[in-house]
Amino acid sequence: MQIKNKYVVITGANRGIGKAFAEACAQQKAHLIIAIRKNDEKLAAELKKAGAASVEIIESDLSTRAGVDHLVQILQSKKVDLLFNNAGQLTGGLIEEQSIDDIYKMFQVNINALVQLSHGVIPQMVKQGSGKIINHSSVSAVMHFPCASTYAASKAAVWAFTDCIQQELKGTGVSTLCLFTPGIKTRMFDEIDVLYSKNMTVPQDHIPPEIYAQKILKAVEKDLTHLEPVGTTGAVFGLAKHFPSLFNMGVQKAFKR
Ligand SMILES: NC(=O)c1ccc[n+]([C@@H]2O[C@H](COP(=O)([O-])OP(=O)(O)OC[C@H]3O[C@@H](n4cnc5c(N)ncnc54)[C@H](OP(=O)(O)O)[C@@H]3O)[C@@H](O)[C@H]2O)c1
Repeated sequence: MQIKNKYVVITGANRGIGKAFAEACAQQKAHLIIAIRKNDEKLAAELKKAGAASVEIIESDLSTRAGVDHLVQILQSKKVDLLFNNAGQLTGGLIEEQSIDDIYKMFQVNINALVQLSHGVIPQMVKQGSGKIINHSSVSAVMHFPCASTYAASKAAVWAFTDCIQQELKGTGVSTLCLFTPGIKTRMFDEIDVLYSKNMTVPQDHIPPEIYAQKILKAVEKDLTHLEPVGTTGAVFGLAKHFPSLFNMGVQKAFKR
């Protein structure tokens, strides 16, 4: 899919990877529909300046069913060519030390909202015979580190959901892209150290969000169904995918209770 003049919805685009992808789409002259928790006129002005054909901000908190209902209702009255389910939260640490309230909120944002938003816009995409859903999974969906139990479970669910709908949508003109994102230097990346480092040696490799946004854009243009890591992380990702017991043995060495 070429992004120029397309109507692109991005959740969680006020910072991190979502913001970097919004900027990349603005440079391609897309119409941007930015779903964020708090209105941000400065961001809208920046995106217009970067080249966006139009920018609309919709205030939405995805941590409640009512918040997602509200966003779906608005999107159903619009043309949507691309939906990037990007917003996400991190939970982590030994399972018994994680907050149940935080776990509920994280699952709501990372998987329930993503499923409901996809469910909400797919009918109009199928009707128009075109569209794309990008779902933000993670290397954690495949590389199962201790201390990442609940977050990894949410991202494995994103992967399974996206693969299933990809098959359902064959022949409709609507496609999906699942992102198996490695370490990207955002606020979430910095939170990993805080939550995991008491029990784990945390890998420090990371990519700037602007570089990763360009990789996502290329994957959209080439209509890839999966974006997987490359280099050393790519090799370890492959090991975890095809030889999980070998991966787990290596990871145990980096973990202490
Ligand atoms: N960074 C990495 O290394 C990495 C690796 C793998 C996958 N990912 C995935 O990449 C995606 C983007 O994360 P990031 O790295 O860019 O982190 P980030 O800078 O922390 O951004 C997270 C985004 O999600 C939004 N969000 C969180 N809770 C929300 C809610 N209840 N309602 C609406 N929006 C909400 C945040 O908005 P507020 O500012 O309002 O909180 C923010 O815009 C996430 O799905 C994450 O799991 C990241």
